[in-house]
Amino acid sequence: MKDILILGIESSCDETAASVVKNGRTVLSNIISSQIELHKLYGGVVPEIASRKHIEKINQVIQQALDEAGVTLDDLDAIGVTYGPGLVGALLVGVAEAKAIAYAKKLPLVGVHHIEGHVSANYIEHPDLEPPFLCLIVSGGHTHLVIVKDYGKFQILGRTRDDAAGEAFDKVARAIGLGYPGGPKIDKLSKEGNPHAIEFPRAKIGDCPYDFSFSGVKSAVLNYLNHAQMTGQDVNRADLAASFQNAVVDVLVEHTMLAARDYGMKKIAIAGGVASNGTLRVAMDEACQKRDYKFYCPSPIFCTDNGAMIGTAAYYEYLKGTRHGWDLNAVPNLKLGER
Ligand code: KG4
Ligand code: ZN
Repeated sequence: MKDILILGIESSCDETAASVVKNGRTVLSNIISSQIELHKLYGGVVPEIASRKHIEKINQVIQQALDEAGVTLDDLDAIGVTYGPGLVGALLVGVAEAKAIAYAKKLPLVGVHHIEGHVSANYIEHPDLEPPFLCLIVSGGHTHLVIVKDYGKFQILGRTRDDAAGEAFDKVARAIGLGYPGGPKIDKLSKEGNPHAIEFPRAKIGDCPYDFSFSGVKSAVLNYLNHAQMTGQDVNRADLAASFQNAVVDVLVEHTMLAARDYGMKKIAIAGGVASNGTLRVAMDEACQKRDYKFYCPSPIFCTDNGAMIGTAAYYEYLKGTRHGWDLNAVPNLKLGER
């Protein structure tokens, strides 16, 4: 059978990324141009700056992805692109670029849901992984617990009621003066702290045991800091970071294990930026080993926003016959389809 080569393009937030993926699971190149240094100055992603940087970088990133893969646009079979959810101006850059290439080269255009991309990152390094499996998606904008019933087909069991997991990491990091992006900084600082130093609340949602809420633990950290400041006490930032992280990881693992038991799932995956968190990876792996479940997680480079995960997701959509027309637009609040 002829190889299928897909160019995956991702520009939904602050990474301009492109990748060439062969037959859905072989990554020939994975180029990520991160804007983190630029947004650090402002303590978070500034949408207009993100869009402007994407437009400046996207052609170079795509050319580099093609060069590294040793192919040209003429070798491609389809173009996959994130069309939502995300920042509208940022998404539009990738979508317009993908449409232009598809139009010029008469190639099929496959719009991809960003979260479907994150989930698909698990396929890249695990050739044995096939649906159905349970997946915890934890990123800067999303926290979902889903059953991946088939490629691109999801049953949502739980979601966050307020902040996303990554958002909580970023907000707590800002409060303790670590700067942006907070997740990796809390991860690092926590290694020097005692995760049991401070007991932070673990929110339980009465009517849906698989839902999450992180605003309580975030407020508890802020209250702890305020109280320490008012009473002139020193704050051990490493202990604080480790205790916060422990509270979040506990809940993520507990809810995932509960859903696995209730739905009889024995394959568990994690995805999204927060999935590169060291403590979460170890805790989830241990919990899975204890129950004889198989645990999957992408390498950190495929957890962060990247084009390879979009190329992989686009491949399975392509096989199913998903094609988008010239009217494809950015959809900033695109829902994860329960098809
Ligand atoms: O998936 P992603 O790159 O972008 C979105 O789709 O949102 O996720 C970014 C989020 C940020 O909130 C960042 O702080 C968090 O992932 N993150 C981490 C770690 N690395 C990135 N959170 C905890 N521990 C990490 N090591
Ligand atoms: Zn993402």
